[in-house]
Amino acid sequence: MLPEASKTFEAEGLSDRVELVAGDFFVEVPPGDAYLIKSCVHNFGDERAIELFGVLRRAGAPLLLVDTMIPAGNEPHYSKFDDVEMMVIAGRNDRTEAEWAALVTAAGFEPGRVVRCDERFSLLEAF
Ligand SMILES: C[S@@+](CC[C@H](N)C(=O)[O-])C[C@H]1O[C@@H](n2cnc3c(N)ncnc32)[C@H](O)[C@@H]1O
Repeated sequence: MLPEASKTFEAEGLSDRVELVAGDFFVEVPPGDAYLIKSCVHNFGDERAIELFGVLRRAGAPLLLVDTMIPAGNEPHYSKFDDVEMMVIAGRNDRTEAEWAALVTAAGFEPGRVVRCDERFSLLEAF
Protein backbone atom coordinates (compact mmCIF):
# COMPACT_ATOMS: atom_id res chain seq x y z
CA MET A 1 0.00 0.00 0.00
CA LEU A 2 2.84 2.43 0.76
CA PRO A 3 3.77 3.32 -2.86
CA GLU A 4 0.09 4.06 -3.58
CA ALA A 5 -0.31 6.12 -0.40
CA SER A 6 2.91 7.95 -1.19
CA LYS A 7 1.54 9.02 -4.60
CA THR A 8 -1.55 10.50 -2.95
CA PHE A 9 0.46 12.56 -0.47
CA GLU A 10 2.82 13.72 -3.24
CA ALA A 11 -0.11 14.81 -5.42
CA GLU A 12 -1.47 16.86 -2.50
CA GLY A 13 1.96 18.40 -1.74
CA LEU A 14 1.94 16.92 1.77
CA SER A 15 4.87 14.46 1.61
CA ASP A 16 7.04 16.54 3.94
CA ARG A 17 4.36 16.33 6.66
CA VAL A 18 3.89 12.57 6.88
CA GLU A 19 5.81 9.43 7.62
CA LEU A 20 4.27 6.34 6.05
CA VAL A 21 4.53 3.15 8.10
CA ALA A 22 3.27 -0.30 7.13
CA GLY A 23 1.72 -2.54 9.74
CA ASP A 24 -1.14 -4.66 11.01
CA PHE A 25 -3.33 -2.63 13.37
CA PHE A 26 -4.52 -5.81 15.07
CA VAL A 27 -0.94 -6.40 16.22
CA GLU A 28 0.47 -2.94 17.03
CA VAL A 29 0.42 0.70 15.96
CA PRO A 30 3.31 3.17 15.90
CA PRO A 31 3.51 5.63 18.82
CA GLY A 32 1.42 8.77 18.33
CA ASP A 33 -0.38 11.67 20.03
CA ALA A 34 -3.75 10.47 18.72
CA TYR A 35 -5.09 7.77 16.43
CA LEU A 36 -7.46 8.73 13.62
CA ILE A 37 -9.06 5.70 12.02
CA LYS A 38 -11.60 6.17 9.25
CA SER A 39 -13.86 3.74 7.43
CA CYS A 40 -12.01 0.69 8.70
CA VAL A 41 -13.87 -0.62 11.71
CA HIS A 42 -17.39 -0.85 10.27
CA ASN A 43 -16.02 -3.74 8.20
CA PHE A 44 -15.45 -5.77 11.37
CA GLY A 45 -17.77 -7.56 13.81
CA ASP A 46 -17.91 -6.51 17.46
CA GLU A 47 -15.30 -8.97 18.74
CA ARG A 48 -12.74 -7.96 16.13
CA ALA A 49 -13.53 -4.26 16.60
CA ILE A 50 -12.92 -4.52 20.36
CA GLU A 51 -9.66 -6.33 19.64
CA LEU A 52 -8.53 -3.45 17.40
CA PHE A 53 -9.67 -0.78 19.87
CA GLY A 54 -7.74 -2.69 22.55
CA VAL A 55 -4.51 -2.36 20.54
CA LEU A 56 -5.15 1.40 20.18
CA ARG A 57 -6.09 1.74 23.87
CA ARG A 58 -2.87 0.08 24.98
CA ALA A 59 -0.92 2.47 22.72
CA GLY A 60 -2.06 5.14 25.20
CA ALA A 61 -3.35 8.02 23.04
CA PRO A 62 -6.86 9.31 22.31
CA LEU A 63 -8.83 7.74 19.48
CA LEU A 64 -10.65 9.76 16.82
CA LEU A 65 -12.94 7.25 15.18
CA VAL A 66 -14.49 8.38 11.90
CA ASP A 67 -17.03 5.98 10.49
CA THR A 68 -20.65 5.52 9.53
CA MET A 69 -22.72 6.08 12.69
CA ILE A 70 -26.49 5.84 12.71
CA PRO A 71 -27.93 8.76 14.67
CA ALA A 72 -30.86 8.26 17.05
CA GLY A 73 -34.32 8.99 15.66
CA ASN A 74 -36.29 8.11 12.59
CA GLU A 75 -35.09 10.89 10.27
CA PRO A 76 -33.58 10.08 6.85
CA HIS A 77 -29.79 9.71 7.04
CA TYR A 78 -27.15 8.30 4.69
CA SER A 79 -26.03 5.80 7.36
CA LYS A 80 -29.39 4.04 7.06
CA PHE A 81 -28.72 3.28 3.39
CA ASP A 82 -25.20 2.17 4.27
CA ASP A 83 -26.71 -0.06 6.95
CA VAL A 84 -28.66 -1.96 4.28
CA GLU A 85 -25.61 -2.10 1.99
CA MET A 86 -23.47 -3.54 4.82
CA MET A 87 -26.16 -6.18 5.48
CA VAL A 88 -25.90 -7.26 1.83
CA ILE A 89 -22.13 -7.10 1.25
CA ALA A 90 -20.72 -7.80 4.70
CA GLY A 91 -23.48 -9.80 6.37
CA ARG A 92 -23.57 -7.38 9.26
CA ASN A 93 -25.23 -4.08 10.18
CA ASP A 94 -23.81 -0.62 10.66
CA ARG A 95 -23.77 0.71 14.21
CA THR A 96 -25.63 3.42 16.03
CA GLU A 97 -23.72 6.15 17.86
CA ALA A 98 -24.58 4.37 21.14
CA GLU A 99 -23.30 1.02 19.82
CA TRP A 100 -19.97 2.61 18.80
CA ALA A 101 -19.66 4.21 22.24
CA ALA A 102 -20.31 0.81 23.89
CA LEU A 103 -17.62 -0.82 21.75
CA VAL A 104 -14.88 1.69 22.59
CA THR A 105 -15.95 1.45 26.26
CA ALA A 106 -15.55 -2.34 26.11
CA ALA A 107 -11.93 -1.79 25.02
CA GLY A 108 -11.21 0.53 27.97
CA PHE A 109 -11.79 3.94 26.38
CA GLU A 110 -14.04 6.63 27.77
CA PRO A 111 -16.26 7.87 24.93
CA GLY A 112 -16.50 11.62 24.36
CA ARG A 113 -18.39 13.76 21.84
CA VAL A 114 -19.84 12.59 18.57
CA VAL A 115 -19.27 15.20 15.85
CA ARG A 116 -21.38 14.77 12.72
CA CYS A 117 -18.97 15.58 9.90
CA ASP A 118 -21.33 15.33 6.94
CA GLU A 119 -24.21 13.21 5.65
CA ARG A 120 -22.00 10.18 5.67
CA PHE A 121 -19.46 10.28 8.47
CA SER A 122 -19.36 11.07 12.17
CA LEU A 123 -16.39 11.32 14.47
CA LEU A 124 -16.41 9.76 17.94
CA GLU A 125 -13.78 10.96 20.41
CA ALA A 126 -12.51 8.34 22.86
CA PHE A 127 -10.03 8.93 25.66
C1 LIG B 1 -12.43 0.87 3.50
S1 LIG B 1 -10.70 1.16 3.54
C2 LIG B 1 -10.61 2.80 4.20
C3 LIG B 1 -9.37 3.49 3.76
C4 LIG B 1 -9.24 4.97 4.20
N1 LIG B 1 -9.08 5.05 5.65
C5 LIG B 1 -10.41 5.77 3.71
O1 LIG B 1 -11.20 6.25 4.52
O2 LIG B 1 -10.53 5.95 2.51
C6 LIG B 1 -10.19 0.11 4.89
C7 LIG B 1 -8.68 0.16 5.13
O3 LIG B 1 -8.35 -0.68 6.24
C8 LIG B 1 -7.06 -1.19 5.99
N2 LIG B 1 -6.84 -2.38 6.82
C9 LIG B 1 -7.59 -3.51 6.83
N3 LIG B 1 -7.06 -4.40 7.69
C10 LIG B 1 -5.95 -3.81 8.23
C11 LIG B 1 -4.98 -4.24 9.18
N4 LIG B 1 -5.07 -5.45 9.75
N5 LIG B 1 -3.98 -3.38 9.52
C12 LIG B 1 -3.91 -2.15 8.94
N6 LIG B 1 -4.80 -1.67 8.02
C13 LIG B 1 -5.80 -2.52 7.67
C14 LIG B 1 -7.07 -1.49 4.52
O4 LIG B 1 -5.77 -1.55 4.01
C15 LIG B 1 -7.86 -0.31 3.94
O5 LIG B 1 -6.97 0.71 3.58
